[in-house]
Amino acid sequence: MKIFIDTADLDEIKELASWGIIDGVTTNPTLVKKSGLSFNDIINEIFKIVDGPISLEVVSEKADDMIKEAKKLVSKVSDKFRKNVTIKIPMTPEGLKAVKKLKKEQIKTNVTLIFSANQALLAAKAGATYISPFIGRLDDIGQEGMQIIEEIMEIFYNYKIETEVIVASIRHPIHVIDAARLGADIATIPPGIIRKMVKHSLTDIGIKKFLADWEKVKK
Ligand code: E4P
Repeated sequence: MKIFIDTADLDEIKELASWGIIDGVTTNPTLVKKSGLSFNDIINEIFKIVDGPISLEVVSEKADDMIKEAKKLVSKVSDKFRKNVTIKIPMTPEGLKAVKKLKKEQIKTNVTLIFSANQALLAAKAGATYISPFIGRLDDIGQEGMQIIEEIMEIFYNYKIETEVIVASIRHPIHVIDAARLGADIATIPPGIIRKMVKHSLTDIGIKKFLADWEKVKK
């Protein structure tokens, strides 16, 4: 399973990319706001750090405006990084129209705010490169989020659909394990959760003991 980092925090992206585990980045307007930087500052830097798909979200509501916005975003990125630009499009009828047109122009899309297998199927039919089902937000309202990943993976497998599934809105490390067990293509994970994934108290205890014993035998 590929791991994308779900943040616009440049320091976190730099640090976790240096671990050699990051395949791409997803951002959204809320994450950009949290970073405290302007969108233009971020866009220029992220592409230099991670050589993989970088999702940038449009905020227009009409298909034609989404397409204009997408093209503007692509033009902001320097030629050598353009292959990595992925446009995040909301799951609406207008969004589907935009996805279809952007596919014709060979611009990659990530259909976001997916909350059902039916939405996933429609986004794939329209030609989305990626879809992002939001697991945590479903859990938040008392619906088992991972259930829709199971349904989507089964449907995409049945019809050999090439659209890749990005498990999004991940809230804890168990979501990541579940996504991987279901064969999801990608999990986009907030930095804090990646930091939890790397830790185990027995690893820390083990290192401490090895270092203490080494002190006794070295000479
Ligand atoms: C990623 O593409 C999504 O925008 C993100 O995972 C949403 O996460 P949230 O539900 O924690 O805001």
